[in-house]
Amino acid sequence: MRTLIKNGRIITAADNYVADVLIENEKVIAIGFQLDVTADKIIDATGKLLMPGGIDPHVHLDMPFMGTYSSDNYETGTRAALYGGTTTVIDFILQKQGNSLQSALEEWKGRSDNNCVGDYSFHMAVTDFNDNTKNEIKHFIEEEGITSFKTFMAYKGALMVDDRQMIGLMQEVKKHGGLINVHATNGDMIDYLIAKHKAEGKMAPLYHYLSQPEITEAEASGRFADMASYTGCPGYIVHLTCEGALNAVRNATRRNQKLFVETCIQYLILDASLYENNFEGAKWVMSPPLREKKDQETLWAGLNQGLVQVVATDHCPFMWEQKLMGKDDFSKIPNGHPAIENRMELLFSEGVNKGKITLNKYVEVTSTNAAKIFGMFPKKGTIAIGSDADIVIFDPEEKHTLSAASHHMNVDYSGYEGWEVKGKVKTVLLRGKVAIDNNQCFVDKGYGQFIKRNKVSQTI
Ligand code: URP
Ligand code: ZN
Ligand code: ZN
Repeated sequence: MRTLIKNGRIITAADNYVADVLIENEKVIAIGFQLDVTADKIIDATGKLLMPGGIDPHVHLDMPFMGTYSSDNYETGTRAALYGGTTTVIDFILQKQGNSLQSALEEWKGRSDNNCVGDYSFHMAVTDFNDNTKNEIKHFIEEEGITSFKTFMAYKGALMVDDRQMIGLMQEVKKHGGLINVHATNGDMIDYLIAKHKAEGKMAPLYHYLSQPEITEAEASGRFADMASYTGCPGYIVHLTCEGALNAVRNATRRNQKLFVETCIQYLILDASLYENNFEGAKWVMSPPLREKKDQETLWAGLNQGLVQVVATDHCPFMWEQKLMGKDDFSKIPNGHPAIENRMELLFSEGVNKGKITLNKYVEVTSTNAAKIFGMFPKKGTIAIGSDADIVIFDPEEKHTLSAASHHMNVDYSGYEGWEVKGKVKTVLLRGKVAIDNNQCFVDKGYGQFIKRNKVSQTI
C-alpha cells in the first residue's frame, strides 16, 4: 500500500517547504516537488501544513493515584491523543515501594497491552531505590527499551525519594546510558504547608496553590540540577512552571551539563486566578499548580531561548465525581487535568498564531526534541526518508471551539471550555495509516505499538 500526500507545506524543526510525501510500509520513502509516482491512495494537502506527529512525553493513563485511577485508559487516552495530532505518548509506570520494577512493568502491561490506539512508551518511576532496584536498571535500558527513570522529590509518604536514593539512581542510570526525569518540588516544605493550612481550617482548592509556592519548585530544581551535575547523569525536569525554577536551570546549565526542561501547555496559557472560584478551581488542581502571568512570560521566553525544550501535557484526567473526593479538603482532590487532545491545537493557536513561537520551534517542542531526548529520533519526531510516517495534516486557518461536549477524552469537563482556537488537526497518519480524518477515527485499539527506545546517549 502506497500513499502519496500532495502539495502540503512540510514543516520540521528545521524546514519549511512545499513538497509531496510518498509512504510505503509505514515509512516515508520519498519527498520531492511534484513527485511523478503511482500510489494506491492520494491525499491532497494543498494549503495545509504537514508536521511530524506530536509526541507527548508526559501522560498518565489508567494510573492508580490518590485513591483512584486517572479516567482515560490506554484506549481512550491514545485515541484522544490522535484526534489532537499526537501520535506517540510516553506514560509513567509507578514502582510500588517494597516491590520490584519488573512487577510494576507487568502490572502496567496488564492494562496497556493490546489496548493502545496510538503508539506509546513508558518511563519507569523509581519510588524505592535499593540494591534490588539498582540491579534492574541495566535490564530496563538494554532489554525493555525503557531508558528514562522518573523520580518524585514530592508526594511525601507515597512516591517521594530522598537525595541519597536520587544520587544512587543517577549513578546507575548514567552508567548504562539512560536519563532521569524528575518532579522537582520540595516535598517536605509542601507537606509542612499542607498540614499548616489544614490546621487553620483552610480547605479550598486555593490552598493547594498556596501550599506549593514558587520557592518549593525553584529550590528542588536547583538541587536536582546540582545532583545531576555531580553524577554526570543527563536530567529532564518535567512540568516546570515558573521563573524561579527556570532561573535555577539557567544558572546550572552554565556548567554545560545535560539538563532538559519540559513545561506543559497549561502553564503557558492558564494562571492561578482560576483557583479563586471556590471548588470550581478543583478542575486545575495539579502539581505544581498554575502560576502567575510573569511565569507564563518566562516560559515563552524559555522556549525561544532554548532553555525549555518540550511542551507536554501531564495529562492526568479525573471525572468531576473523582475531583469531589476533595470537596472538604484540597489535599484529597486527585491532582491532574486533561489536555492530551488539546495540546497541539492550543500551542499552535496561542503560540504560533500569536507570534510567540515560530512554526519550526512549534515542531521542535511538540515532537522533535522529545524524540531526541527520549531516544526515538529519527524514527519519530521528523518527516524524513526512512522515518515512521507519523504525519499531521493541519489547517492553520480553521477556527473551532474546545468543549467537553465534543472532545474525545474520557472526562466530563474541559479545562478549556469555550476556548476559541485557530488551527485544526484535519488528518493524522500513524505509521502510514490514516488514523484520523475529518473528525473520525479509523484505527482500533491494538494498532498502537510499544516503542522500544534507544539509550539517550545515542540521540542527545
Ligand atoms: O498533578 C499532577 N501533575 N498529576 C499527575 C502526577 C504528577 O505529578 O505528574
Ligand atoms: Zn509530577
Ligand atoms: Zn505527571
